[in-house]
Amino acid sequence: MLAARAAGHAVQTLEGLQEEAADFVGFIADQGADQCGFCNPGFVMNTIALLRENPDPTDDEIRAFLAGNLCRCTGYEGQLRGIRSYLDSRKGGAAHGA
Ligand code: FES
Repeated sequence: MLAARAAGHAVQTLEGLQEEAADFVGFIADQGADQCGFCNPGFVMNTIALLRENPDPTDDEIRAFLAGNLCRCTGYEGQLRGIRSYLDSRKGGAAHGA
């Protein structure tokens, strides 16, 4: 996103989401989807945004939302399982910032 388009809006970075990020990466690691870790910050930010926009997405909606997150190490199935587990764990009002 062009930075100028954020003018007048609040910008939240990964540093501002440390508690949620630490929780999320545990779900990714549990699925063995954390290899070099280069792609993790993008998955963290976009998964938390997805949770806030659509707390109960289908797997196809998860894939569509995260289509811009590139991972050179995996086939995305581990990330999908981890993201699904993370989102499922947030059902029932436990979601942060939702
Ligand atoms: S784990 Fe290496 S790029 Fe995704």
